[in-house]
Amino acid sequence: MTRDIKKIIKQMTLEEKAGLCSGLDAWRTKPVERLGIPSIMMTDGPHGLRKMKEDANMADINNSIPATCFPSAAGLASSWDRELLEKVGAALGEECQAENVSILLGPGANIKRSPLCGRNFEYFSEDPYLSSEMAASHIKGVQSQGVGTSLKHFAANNQEYRRMTVDAVVDERTLREIYFASFESAVKKARPWTVMCAYNKLNGEYCSENRYLLTDILKDEWMHEGFVVSDWGAVNDRVNGLDAGLDLEMPSSFGIRDKKIVEAVRSGKLSENILDRAVERILKVIFMALESKKENAQYDKDAHHVLARQVAGESMVLLKNEDDILPLKKTGTIALIGAFVKKPRYQGAGSSHITPTRFDDIYEEIKKTGGSETNIVYSEGYSLACDEIDEKLINEARKVAQSSDVAVIFAGLPDEYESEGFDRTHMRMPENQNRLIEEVAKVQSNVVVVLFNGSPVEMPWIDQVKAVLEAYLGGQALGGALADILFGEVNPSGKLAETFPVKLSHNPSYLNFPGEDDRVEYKEGLFVGYRYYDTKGIEPLFPFGHGLSYTKFEYSDISVDKKDISDNNVINVSVKVKNVGKMAGKEIVQLYVKDVKSSIQRPEKELRGFEKVFLNPGEEKTVTFTLDKRAFAYYNTKIKDWHVESGEFLILIGKSSRDIVLKESVRVNSTVKIRKRFDENSTVEDLMSDSTAAAAFSPILKGITDALQIDMNNTHDMMVAHIKNMPLHSLTTFTQGRVSEEMLDELLSRINNVD
Ligand code: GLC
Repeated sequence: MTRDIKKIIKQMTLEEKAGLCSGLDAWRTKPVERLGIPSIMMTDGPHGLRKMKEDANMADINNSIPATCFPSAAGLASSWDRELLEKVGAALGEECQAENVSILLGPGANIKRSPLCGRNFEYFSEDPYLSSEMAASHIKGVQSQGVGTSLKHFAANNQEYRRMTVDAVVDERTLREIYFASFESAVKKARPWTVMCAYNKLNGEYCSENRYLLTDILKDEWMHEGFVVSDWGAVNDRVNGLDAGLDLEMPSSFGIRDKKIVEAVRSGKLSENILDRAVERILKVIFMALESKKENAQYDKDAHHVLARQVAGESMVLLKNEDDILPLKKTGTIALIGAFVKKPRYQGAGSSHITPTRFDDIYEEIKKTGGSETNIVYSEGYSLACDEIDEKLINEARKVAQSSDVAVIFAGLPDEYESEGFDRTHMRMPENQNRLIEEVAKVQSNVVVVLFNGSPVEMPWIDQVKAVLEAYLGGQALGGALADILFGEVNPSGKLAETFPVKLSHNPSYLNFPGEDDRVEYKEGLFVGYRYYDTKGIEPLFPFGHGLSYTKFEYSDISVDKKDISDNNVINVSVKVKNVGKMAGKEIVQLYVKDVKSSIQRPEKELRGFEKVFLNPGEEKTVTFTLDKRAFAYYNTKIKDWHVESGEFLILIGKSSRDIVLKESVRVNSTVKIRKRFDENSTVEDLMSDSTAAAAFSPILKGITDALQIDMNNTHDMMVAHIKNMPLHSLTTFTQGRVSEEMLDELLSRINNVD
């Protein structure tokens, strides 16, 4: 039943309208019973429903009802699987319906600028294309169940340190190509019911009152039709926020700011139309939620647990597998070492923390899948209570490992190392874990390390172990998924959605994270992650897009349907992928684009496509990609638009950003001529490099070089460079008056006014 929202707004009092623009409490909007406006509930989180128990107080954030805990975003993104993300989203939507939640506060699409950000576990990637594709799929999935989402945290919320006051200083091109791009196609393709603004400032203005961000970009340019909600407690000035495009303040302001809105309208400081516009957006979503409500909805906890296990299996990344030590044979003695076996880290801390419906015990699952021929033994190895090295525990672990056929060590980052609310200060794992790995490796050559971490870690022991499986924070079915992968019931297919640098100081944000004096400058610009490492030629520990399989894939026959296009056409690319191994598996085929020669700085390559394909042994499939203008474009801040510089581009097909296996060259011709404007500061070279200007200026230049008896083709380089770099305003004196100011004025007016 469509409601006449405008008519309802007309019937609302000013106080009711102002009241609707802030929460009833921590999680719900205000009802207006007399007009049939219900209250709706919104709550976290991106990889599982965190609905506080009725009797829980706000601070007791872990006191929530049971819900399925899926892998966190860092792992989900490592699946590179759009359909899978949609399935996770749909399951989350089902659980929200069953618990009368109308909007799920997620996904988080902030870019991983530094490995130190405490919430990296909750974000997808260092690459905006992968991040926005994952976010879009998540949103589509949740909203397919008639439940809204809140794409967050818009924008440039890339650290936890002083997140409520820090000013992120980011140039426009970097915002467009990296930090906005991570949200853009998610908004345009998936239409989230709501977008959540970030706590921080962006270029001097709180996101919660940043008109450029919330109205110019999000609402006017990207056509966001839902409402903008503040992060919890992110509002600075409510009236400025409303005016800038912040529709709903959460949580409740207990009437304090509602009153300010009423006063602002009454005093004329705020136009009532602005208020009505926000109320309209909020009502639209409220009624959408009402119409989408599924009465007496339920969900199948077991089915969601099975899905969580499948998703975790697709999200883990096999980083190293020397001598094909994995998959493990179901015979002999396998040592499981590390306190994480009994108490694994399977989710992150903070607003995304979930009470799982159930939890797989790693030891039991491995024992079950290992079967009766396998003897499983355990040793604690290290304590989670502190980082101190416990020689006793290490010696016990050495003994257990020594008398086993293989040692699987479970390690990574304990809860206190990374969380919402604070950042890491280094990339190391606890010393007691590093020492354990090194000591066990001295007595056992068959060592597998399984990592539970939400963001990259240094691996000083990498050469001493045969295999590393990155499990990230794998959710409640982590145990079953690990057993599946370790014994080969599931072939690992994840690939890294972020670079693992060898050491923190290699990371491009290293000198500017987390900033000083409440100001963090993104001085690395758009050179984030592999864009930096690949352009600088810095060897990572494991590159973006890297991930191994128990089988082998061969790529061949890259082809394009056009070799020379204008930028308003598309190019279709195809490549064949064959499973040449003995085990069925999935392969993530990545497509990068490189601008061979550009007048502006561009990264060595940029991800512009990916497809995940299932192949049985011997099977071959053709994978296709369609590239449009944006695949080749950069953001030109002069024309305020995406622009392709005519020229050659390389299409690179890779197994990772560092393992490019096929390439094809194409030419793209720009249909947009950027008219250069010249003035007295333009140099001789500027004019001579533009055909129109050169035609008009050449006679003058010839007159100068003749008069000064300079042969530009036969004089020393310094003089040539001197003349090329000479601004027009110097020519009058340089030519001792031969070139007059009038001549230059006439020249400039002629070349600037050519159609
Ligand atoms: C938190 C988080 C946000 C979450 C909200 C509600 O501070 O930044 O992601 O959705 O508050 O818990």
